[in-house]
Amino acid sequence: MTNFTSAWAPASLSNLGPGFDALGVALTKWGDTVSITLLEGSEIRVSFARGSKWTGPTDAKRNTASVAAIEVAKMVGYHGGISIEIDKGFRAGSGIGSSAASAVAAAVAMNGATGGTLSKEDLIPAVMKGEAIVSHSIHGDNVLPSLLGGFILLQSSSPEGFMRIEGASDICFAVLLPELEVLTINAREHLPDSIPLTRAVDHAARLGLLINSINTNDTAAIGALIMSDDLIEPTRSQLLPPYQRIKEAALAAGAAGCALSGSGPAMYAVCGSSSDASRVAEAMATACRDAGYECASITDSVNLTGATLTK
Ligand code: HSE
Repeated sequence: MTNFTSAWAPASLSNLGPGFDALGVALTKWGDTVSITLLEGSEIRVSFARGSKWTGPTDAKRNTASVAAIEVAKMVGYHGGISIEIDKGFRAGSGIGSSAASAVAAAVAMNGATGGTLSKEDLIPAVMKGEAIVSHSIHGDNVLPSLLGGFILLQSSSPEGFMRIEGASDICFAVLLPELEVLTINAREHLPDSIPLTRAVDHAARLGLLINSINTNDTAAIGALIMSDDLIEPTRSQLLPPYQRIKEAALAAGAAGCALSGSGPAMYAVCGSSSDASRVAEAMATACRDAGYECASITDSVNLTGATLTK
């Protein structure tokens, strides 16, 4: 048996505004490719492609891609060997869903290799499990957008009730990736265990307003609301020393709003046009470098398709 299938899954912005663990969106440019080959025997092999820009664990129990692929194998009743080759298009600890993209690409490729009997929705438990292996927490605001595309709202504790948020499909993003690693598992340790009721109520209301602004394509309101998280981002932003400087540079260059993505250090800005996004991406990168941190920046848009089979 040598069935060979590969899939690509995109990076994603997560924790959008007051949507901690609840709201994310798929991007188009960066992503991971995972190739699955079904093998005789029962060995599970994990490797990184020769040209992979980054690597990670090759222990099948610790790699997000193999954990997701093994879950899919269990779901379809496949008990043979599996070779999992990962080609990472962007690095782990980036804040734009690196572990999620590997888990999603692996699940989609494994489903393809075993006959494609499962739907993307069926793959949700497998990708959640893959993601959980590195962050030691259950959150789906990167894996679901990467799998399904678009803006996805979910309760991470019961992700099967997710909802695609329609609107804002033409919005432009500037995305900055400072060369600094923030592991989600560490970033979650700094979060408060409990919050006062009034703050929780305000937070919930702001998430509702953000969803409405996406539905109505209101870029100015989306920009303002992605900056309205006062529960998580104030703590997390301390892990990125030039955070304030980058945000101010983005706003001065014309962004409607700018915030951390995921647990950082990635930051993104919401812009009204691709030319605005180019100018904002440049301003964010300059501010980051001026503060002594190397970085990469891109402009990007909403990926409505999510993960796809590539072979
Ligand atoms: N919602 C997750 C967190 C995303 O903030 O921990 C991790 O990228």
